[in-house]
Amino acid sequence: MIEKIVVAILVVNVLGFIVLWTRNQNMLYALFSLSLLGLFGLTIAKEYSAEWRHYQHEYIEMAIGYEKNPETVATLKNTPIKILQVWNSELGVTDRCISCHMGYDNPAFKDAPEPFKYHAAAREHDFNKIGCTICHQGQGQATEKTEAHARHIMNWDFPMWPNNMVQVSCPQCHEELFRPGYRLKGAEMITSSRDITEGANSLEVKCISCHTIRGVGEVLGPDLTKFGEKIGHEFDGTHVMKYVEGEKTKYNWTYQHFKDPAKITPNDPELKLEETVMPNFGFTDEQAHALTVYVFSFRTPNLPAKYLYHNSQMFMKKGGETASFISDYERQFPDINSLPAGQRLFIKSKCWFCHTIDGKGGKIGPDLTKVGGRYDKEKLLEFWNNPSKMAKHGLGVKFNLDANQLDQIADFLLALK
Ligand code: HEC
Ligand code: HEC
Ligand code: HEC
Ligand code: HEC
Ligand code: HEC
Repeated sequence: MIEKIVVAILVVNVLGFIVLWTRNQNMLYALFSLSLLGLFGLTIAKEYSAEWRHYQHEYIEMAIGYEKNPETVATLKNTPIKILQVWNSELGVTDRCISCHMGYDNPAFKDAPEPFKYHAAAREHDFNKIGCTICHQGQGQATEKTEAHARHIMNWDFPMWPNNMVQVSCPQCHEELFRPGYRLKGAEMITSSRDITEGANSLEVKCISCHTIRGVGEVLGPDLTKFGEKIGHEFDGTHVMKYVEGEKTKYNWTYQHFKDPAKITPNDPELKLEETVMPNFGFTDEQAHALTVYVFSFRTPNLPAKYLYHNSQMFMKKGGETASFISDYERQFPDINSLPAGQRLFIKSKCWFCHTIDGKGGKIGPDLTKVGGRYDKEKLLEFWNNPSKMAKHGLGVKFNLDANQLDQIADFLLALK
């Protein structure tokens, strides 16, 4: 509304200039002065009709309603209406969210409507120090709702998370969430997905059998340690969006990839895409969402240690360690060199990533415990020479064995009956 009046004033001024310039300069002068006064008035009116003022008045009225102590009521009545903010240079935070969200630390507002509702997490965290955007994202300095929540602002890289994604931010300070078995109230989405990545899934496969996460794991798939950092165009630039349904966003790519990896990363020679070997775990919608939130939380920690829960980064392992899935497997063969050549090759070529023998190994490919009963040598070599079957054996796994080595592995496998 105010913007329209401003435009109208400007138009009248331009017309006035054209008509009056040669005829009556006194009138023109008067017109300009009046317009200036009008614009000045409108600026003040805009300031006083600001959204946040309206919410502060409403909050104070409600607070007086809840209050019985006359002294407190008197103080409330005198509360100045002004922009409120949390400023913390160490965290790079200037958050004015509390200019509207005024009841966040007032338990009397636990059933109040937004933006006044008491915030449960305020009991455990000092919001006056850490602000809001550290957990929610959004545009802290803005004082209008749409800009502050920043959900549809093109050039803002950190739109406010939907409520069901806020847990992305917990591991920034609660790094122990990455530790097996650790639990934290309010971070259930993170801990349940962490358990999934550690093998609590239909295939009983750890994600680090293929991916490196924080320095631990394998290189069959991409390193996931910083998966949460790439945003917007940076993510589009490195990921094929062609097979994503709906909006082509990082969220949709990741979520749909968890639901069915080969649908998002299929064979597409034109785009130089090879069908992924990441298995379809059969995740439910809820699990795929939780896993997306979890992998979005993979970022380089950058907050000062004093804001962290345990004041330490002891869980950030440095590279070079092997995944327990792998060391567990290898530990059962203390002396590899004493084994038959075929079995040695089976172990060294990491066939057991995907194949189980006698209950040990991965479950991505068929169980080979009794493979000797299903194949003879001719059929096995034929299988290995079939490119479409072998496509699933691709990606970093050493299957470039020579004829003699294949022969040795075949003998080892065919003896398993
Ligand atoms: C100008 C007032 C105003 C400002 C500033 C503001 N909000 Fe809000 N916010 C609201 C109102 C009003 C609602 C209630 C729901 C609605 O109208 O969209 C709300 C709802 C919310 C919700 C819950 C509902 C949802 O859409 O998910 C969250 C979370 C939230 N705000 C966080 C923030 C954060 C974080 C900031 C600062 C970056 C902020 N708000 C700044 C007015 C504001
Ligand atoms: C420590 C992290 C953290 C901080 C800091 C934080 N929030 Fe939240 N907030 C959350 C979480 C988590 C939820 C989602 C709860 C849920 O619905 O599961 C939430 C929910 C909300 C909601 C929606 C409540 C509802 O019931 O739907 C609003 C509004 C909100 N926060 C505003 C704020 C404001 C304003 C600040 C700063 C004064 C703030 N938050 C600071 C973690 C945080
Ligand atoms: C900016 C850092 C920071 C972020 C982000 C953060 N926390 Fe915290 N949290 C802390 C610190 C520090 C404490 C310890 C506070 C104290 O003891 O005074 C804490 C304490 C807690 C506690 C109480 C635990 C106890 O042992 O008493 C819970 C529960 C909690 N946080 C949950 C969460 C959840 C859930 C999230 C994500 C939505 C989250 N926190 C995000 C820093 C953070
Ligand atoms: C058999 C190996 C394998 C297993 C097991 C596996 N992945 Fe993958 N994953 C891959 C490969 C290969 C890619 C890259 C190709 C693709 O799918 O886009 C990939 C891609 C990804 C990506 C996208 C990474 C990026 O930067 O583009 C994510 C996220 C991911 N996997 C998460 C997981 C999680 C979480 C698990 C465990 C639940 C898991 N993966 C299990 C092989 C695997
Ligand atoms: C990345 C996972 C992966 C790795 C590593 C892998 N395989 Fe496979 N393997 C599979 C899959 C998936 C199939 C099923 C393919 C099909 O039927 O199209 C399979 C099928 C087989 C079969 C046929 C089993 C049957 O019951 O039909 C044999 C034999 C086999 N692989 C041997 C090997 C050997 C030997 C190695 C190591 C040199 C190896 N695989 C490494 C995934 C893998």
